[in-house]
Amino acid sequence: MARFGDVIIAAEHEGKEKHVPQIKAPEKVAAGEAFHVQIIVGEEVHHPNTIEHHIKWIQLFAKSEGDVVKHVATFDLGPTYADPRVTVSVMLEQSATLYALEYCNIHGVWDNSVDVAVE
Ligand SMILES: [Fe+2]
Repeated sequence: MARFGDVIIAAEHEGKEKHVPQIKAPEKVAAGEAFHVQIIVGEEVHHPNTIEHHIKWIQLFAKSEGDVVKHVATFDLGPTYADPRVTVSVMLEQSATLYALEYCNIHGVWDNSVDVAVE
């Protein structure tokens, strides 16, 4: 049986157009204290942003050990004016891995992750 994970494209397949979402988050945070997470697609090389070819959405999920993955935020972007750099305020009670997904209407779904430790 095919799984959704099968269609997520690995970072090593990245070409000249950059699709892997870069996640900017602190390595360590305090429990219950809000911090900012920024997700950027095309940080160094801007991705095209036309009706024909653009970043359609960016999603953020979090998973702590022993818990199920939880949705944090979805950003639904339009072409032309939306810059695929989004920021969300996040609070954690325990250490978690943050997973970002992004969808390019031509090149598919890409992912990345970072660990955030709660002290
Ligand atoms: Fe693309």
